[in-house]
Amino acid sequence: MAKIISNEKLSKDFYLMKVEENREVKMGQFYMLRAWEHYPTLSRPISIYDSDGETVSFLYKVIGEGTEIFSNLDVGDEITLQGPLGESFPEVNGKVAMVGGGVGIAPLYLAAKNIKSLDPKNKVDIYLGFSDVALLEDEYKKVCDNLSINVGGFVTDDINPEEYDYIFTCGPEIMMKVLYEKCKAAGVEDRLVISMESRMACGVGACFGCTCETTGGNKKVCKDGPIFKAQEVFE
Ligand code: FES
Repeated sequence: MAKIISNEKLSKDFYLMKVEENREVKMGQFYMLRAWEHYPTLSRPISIYDSDGETVSFLYKVIGEGTEIFSNLDVGDEITLQGPLGESFPEVNGKVAMVGGGVGIAPLYLAAKNIKSLDPKNKVDIYLGFSDVALLEDEYKKVCDNLSINVGGFVTDDINPEEYDYIFTCGPEIMMKVLYEKCKAAGVEDRLVISMESRMACGVGACFGCTCETTGGNKKVCKDGPIFKAQEVFE
């Protein structure tokens, strides 16, 4: 059990929750969270937004009963954390773009922070897309060289993939697929790394609840991912 330090409402259905947690985490990993005994049964997979060695933060969207329960938790309440789980984004150097849509922006915060800290010469540009209201603009500005925000349009229109050595993306699958096609048209599809979202039951590779097809056969998003090379999933 972990104690909740803050659980702030950012917009109509987005929240940022910080909890006590001192385990080491890697960019792109997630936790299975639960704050109930029996019902709604399954824990919820939530991406890590940030970590400082003593706390971990989660940016989440209220989309159903489980996340609704999270949104009603108060400071000092406890939550069950299972994790950190999954593979991390690759540690790369160079000029890196991060492209996020909706709640998919969450893992890109820690990813940008980590890539910048690997080598001061690394450059990180972040492109965030929102359907109605921009979130955490000032926070993302602190961890990148350039921040581009798109509200109500297509964030994939804003990026020129050829400018980058690597591109990390997380968001709706259709957004990531459009970005993949854009990278492919520019001949740089091998530079795109995606973070897949999936429904999950166990979160640890035991139930086949999160299987996705890849060029290397069926893989489990929770254990083999959530980070994949885009080519593996979209070819
Ligand atoms: Fe059970 Fe991935 S959620 S195998």
